[in-house]
Amino acid sequence: MSNTDLIQEIQRLKEERNAVILAHSYQRAEIQDLADFVGDSLALARKAQEAECDVIVFCGVHFMAETACILNPTRKVLLPDLNAACSLEQSCPAEELAAFLEANKEKNYYVVAYINCSIGVKALADVIVTSGNSQRIIETAPADRPILFVPDRNLGAWTARKVGREMTLWNGACHVHERFTRDRVLEMRAQYPDAEVVCHPECQEPIRLLADHICSTEKMIPYCRDSKAARFIIVTESGILHRLRKLVPGKEFIGMGFEQCSCNECEYMKLNTLEKLRNCLRDMSPEVRIEEELRRRAEKPLQRMLDLSL
Ligand code: 13P
Ligand code: SF4
Repeated sequence: MSNTDLIQEIQRLKEERNAVILAHSYQRAEIQDLADFVGDSLALARKAQEAECDVIVFCGVHFMAETACILNPTRKVLLPDLNAACSLEQSCPAEELAAFLEANKEKNYYVVAYINCSIGVKALADVIVTSGNSQRIIETAPADRPILFVPDRNLGAWTARKVGREMTLWNGACHVHERFTRDRVLEMRAQYPDAEVVCHPECQEPIRLLADHICSTEKMIPYCRDSKAARFIIVTESGILHRLRKLVPGKEFIGMGFEQCSCNECEYMKLNTLEKLRNCLRDMSPEVRIEEELRRRAEKPLQRMLDLSL
């Protein structure tokens, strides 16, 4: 079946099911183009919470669809491919975090969890952050408690420096952002000397030190639009290039992949395809389901984040 036919079928099924399609900026271009809303984790969490339809089809990774279930429990949430995981989520199993907190009870940690984590980890956290609001949220953390930041050591280190507050960092990372090397960025800088380097805070420190600007995927759009530069080297997952090219016309966006290597692709994000999206709307499956007691515990720190980031 051609993409045009698939898209038509998806639109038809979407109406029939009274569904909304939410997509993360790292999704394939054709999925972004037919989604009702495209955004970063923070914007998607808000959209999911407000959704009034019967079905939310979440084109992203599992923790994002799970977040939609936590915030809007009366809707059915579908994820086109249930194997769409996240290496950051995997780097912090809830049982390991629970054991760490138990072993360090006397520290009375204030637990800040990056939204890229499982529902079990969210349920153990005091507050959730995204890459778009981590500074703002951590500035409101109680001054008399030490902070434990999970699971991303890179976002944690960057935020700690920005807010000038020491934090204990969980040793987790995103395998896509950790593939980027300082040498490769230097090479690209030499090739495009007029370009600005814009990177995601999930990148390692040697990259962050080379960047002209560090921000979440969503904030890259206004930054590049307002910058005087005409070319940008974008150090994050490739999906955002499509959005940048669409929303900031007339400027050039260069990704970190090269001929022999699509190293800037998140294999998990790219598991969702038009075909799987059509199938999940047709079959109303795979569905993401969560346990109510855990949901209630995870909702608290998520709602705290949403209230603080208004
Ligand atoms: P954003 O918070 O910018 O949406 O990023 C999510 C993510 O998975 C980054 O790798
Ligand atoms: Fe997770 Fe990294 Fe993929 Fe983002 S890019 S979803 S952090 S594995």
